[in-house]
Amino acid sequence: MQITSGVIGCGNIARFHVSGLQKAGARIAWVCDLNEAAARPWVEAFGARYTADYRQVLADPAVHAVTVATASSTHRPICLDAIAAGKAVICEKTLATNADDALAIVQAAERAGTIFYTSYMKRFIPAVEQARALLPSLGRIVSTHIRAYQAWGDLWGAMPAEGLFHTPPGGTSGVTRNYGGGILTCGGSHILDLVCHLLGRPHRLYATLHVPAGRDYDLQAAALLETANGVVHYEALAHPLRHIGFLRDGWDERIEINGLNGRLELYSAAWNQVDSKASMLVHYDNATGRATEFRYAPASPFDRAVAFFCANIAKGDQGTQSRLTGYETDELIAHIQASAAAGAAMAVAWRA
Ligand SMILES: NC(=O)c1ccc[n+]([C@@H]2O[C@H](COP(=O)([O-])OP(=O)(O)OC[C@H]3O[C@@H](n4cnc5c(N)ncnc54)[C@H](O)[C@@H]3O)[C@@H](O)[C@H]2O)c1
Repeated sequence: MQITSGVIGCGNIARFHVSGLQKAGARIAWVCDLNEAAARPWVEAFGARYTADYRQVLADPAVHAVTVATASSTHRPICLDAIAAGKAVICEKTLATNADDALAIVQAAERAGTIFYTSYMKRFIPAVEQARALLPSLGRIVSTHIRAYQAWGDLWGAMPAEGLFHTPPGGTSGVTRNYGGGILTCGGSHILDLVCHLLGRPHRLYATLHVPAGRDYDLQAAALLETANGVVHYEALAHPLRHIGFLRDGWDERIEINGLNGRLELYSAAWNQVDSKASMLVHYDNATGRATEFRYAPASPFDRAVAFFCANIAKGDQGTQSRLTGYETDELIAHIQASAAAGAAMAVAWRA
């Protein structure tokens, strides 16, 4: 069955979804953006219809699925309306800008039985899929180190005078307006999702955040997370080091999972260069003493994620990714913020 889709939000991230939809053989019938110029290239490329009002997309009975690629602060009303209209939903991360909104969305999807995905595309990096397949070979997992170090430039000194990272007095920075916050929400959310995906939901955590004076976003989030698969040492950091990381390009995202029978080390490539750079996985097996390095050709995890979502939508089946995915990360972000503010460890109060 060919899926007919509507893309709501035609900015930066939408091009990755459009590429995935095209490769999955979906028909893009609508493109929606408040700014017509952002949507125009796809009107021309696909003969898609344009609207500034997403409700017009939802009112079209031919549309099976919508991709929500607007700023995270707008996801709640758009997703709730899409669920009410009976459309399958692929929503960009973070699902919302707070855990209450994320919970409201996934509960509405659960109640309606809607096929609903928050697109945490890093689950679909081939090295992550391979790591997940090799997890049982590690035996009992006792310790994980996971970090997202991203080269955002030197934001640790004076406040930038303008741009995404300028916070006007009493106002909101671009990074918080567009993405809901700083490094915890941007890079840190992905690796919180991978903690849940690879190790299961943490039940307790202690966290610290660095928010520079006068700013409304963090530059560092560190946490100790307790899971049924051992302790997780977690850190998201915005830094000015342009040549660190396994590809020496400033992108230094790494996962190390230690079991009693072996270790996995995963080095991921920058999210917006997935067409040219690949991630790498190393598996160490204690019984043989052998270390195996898995190298992959560059493969867009966005394409792979969208292909998975579309295949399930075509079957009318949610498949193996839970509707609760985006809620889990937003709940962990809320707990990290609360733990850092209180200076105390806390149990994670899962609500769904
Ligand atoms: N997966 C990743 O690694 C990753 C990376 C960057 C951004 N994102 C996520 O993607 C989403 C979008 O981010 P972006 O960088 O593309 O932002 P963007 O500002 O470039 O694009 C968002 C677009 O949505 C449009 N828009 C806003 N409100 C709308 C509405 N009510 N109806 C129709 N259009 C509307 C805007 O005009 C804009 O063109 C966010 O949720 C963000 O967190 C994810």
